[in-house]
Amino acid sequence: MAASKEFDNLDSKFYRPADSFFPAYSDIGLTYDDVTLATLYSEILPRETQLDTRLAEGLQLNIPIISADMDTVTESRLAIAMALNGGLGLIHYNMPDRQQLSEVGRVKNNVHGLIQEPIKVAPDQIIGDILDLIDKKHFAFSTFPVVDTEGRLVGLLSGHVIKQRYAGRKVAEALTPRSQVQTINKKELGRDPIAKADKFFTDHPGIHKLLVVDDQDRLHGLFTMSDIERITQERNAQFKPARDAHFRLLCGAAVSATRNAFGELDRQRILTHVGGLVERGVDVVAVSTAHGHSQGVGDTVRMLRDAFPKLPIIAGNVTSASGVEFLAECGANAVKVGQGPGSICTTRIVAGVGIPQLTALYVGSCAARKKRVTLLADGGITKSGDIVKALTLAHAVICGGILAGCSESPGEVMEIAGKLYKQYRGMGSLAAMKAGSAARYGHGSDPSRKVAPEGVEALKEVSGSVDRVLAQLIGGIQSGMGYLGAANLAQLREKARFIRVSPAGQREAAPHDVVELKTGN
Ligand code: XMP
Repeated sequence: MAASKEFDNLDSKFYRPADSFFPAYSDIGLTYDDVTLATLYSEILPRETQLDTRLAEGLQLNIPIISADMDTVTESRLAIAMALNGGLGLIHYNMPDRQQLSEVGRVKNNVHGLIQEPIKVAPDQIIGDILDLIDKKHFAFSTFPVVDTEGRLVGLLSGHVIKQRYAGRKVAEALTPRSQVQTINKKELGRDPIAKADKFFTDHPGIHKLLVVDDQDRLHGLFTMSDIERITQERNAQFKPARDAHFRLLCGAAVSATRNAFGELDRQRILTHVGGLVERGVDVVAVSTAHGHSQGVGDTVRMLRDAFPKLPIIAGNVTSASGVEFLAECGANAVKVGQGPGSICTTRIVAGVGIPQLTALYVGSCAARKKRVTLLADGGITKSGDIVKALTLAHAVICGGILAGCSESPGEVMEIAGKLYKQYRGMGSLAAMKAGSAARYGHGSDPSRKVAPEGVEALKEVSGSVDRVLAQLIGGIQSGMGYLGAANLAQLREKARFIRVSPAGQREAAPHDVVELKTGN
């Protein structure tokens, strides 16, 4: 029977490993839809596959998905959701340095399940005003901590008293007094605050809120029983949150190779800022530019490597083996590959430069193996099948567009012709460069002088929560691995067999000759 589990000679002629497939197409740039993967004998069920990936010493993710450092994709809310799902968010840099520090701080200080900034009320407010607030803001809850002007806990205003009949009364007259409110000191939360809160609710039947205070009795947050119950159920999920050694969520931040007024690398600013990020606990910085195989990026990576020997560094973007080698030699641990594949990118149209993503990944992967760095496939991911193909050559993918419609991404929801959308723009679009990202594209601080933007401003249809979107993507990756008999990502890279797809084959791959009622999602 053993023979039937192996690839037949005939199979091997058609379905080839990367090292023989890609060199055979060295005269053409290939991307995701140009190839498909052959099924292989499998003893692996999709749900048994492991998706953990180690990007650098001290940087291990439980799923190989990173959210892009773009100002319409990753700020602290999305980064928290990514890490809770086992991935990583890269906080963008189109904001003042101080704000990026506090965004990273928010992720690193996030206590899952703890509402860190609950809506509070003051003792001298009128109940009628609170009724109006609930109505105006559509709050789905009606219990509010009451604090004084110093932020000290005075009591709890329960939903039972927020009624029209008490509208004229002051909060101070209706609140449950401090002495009767259950609290925990934040110092007592320990390594597993959820377990602590869960035990509290079991030990105190009928109490559904637990307030967190400090030694001065200042309010620091609120647990609700319903959140804790949901999280406790989620703990049985296969993919655990991505955390550091201190049990804090992982977080990355992008930095750019900014120049000073004299056109020199602004070493002082970059070092001071990255020092601040490290102090806040950042797990990785990404030197994120459109052209990573360049002096400025190389100097920045070298400088950061010298100043922060243990800090994991991502650098990019490149599309050549020499680009990967260069950044690896400068001290990067992971290299971003992708020039022009992104859904909002126009680099290939505007500059006539860039390489279709799978060819770029293959070429980059040869150098990455040699230099012992990891590779990140950045841009152009539109479906889970693309991720499976990317992971045959890379250690993780970076996604922008696919996450930009999530409720956790920055930006307002807008309604157009009955459909809901969020803004999604390239970091090389004129609007994003005006907001600060010009350095990424090698331009000065006055982007109005920039000749041609390399990205567009666009809309993405609202897609629900990150949990939901990632569940779909992860399901697809696991299916792909099941088809290839790959128990983990290393096996996926080793086992993958490729074949090119004709235009008719591409049409065949999508739903055809039917009237589609519902998409697969
Ligand atoms: P997706 O396809 O996930 O791509 O939307 C996200 C990636 O695209 C890159 N990016 C740009 N590339 N012009 C470009 O040529 C731009 O304006 C631009 N903005 C982002 C970036 O690598 C991101 O992760």
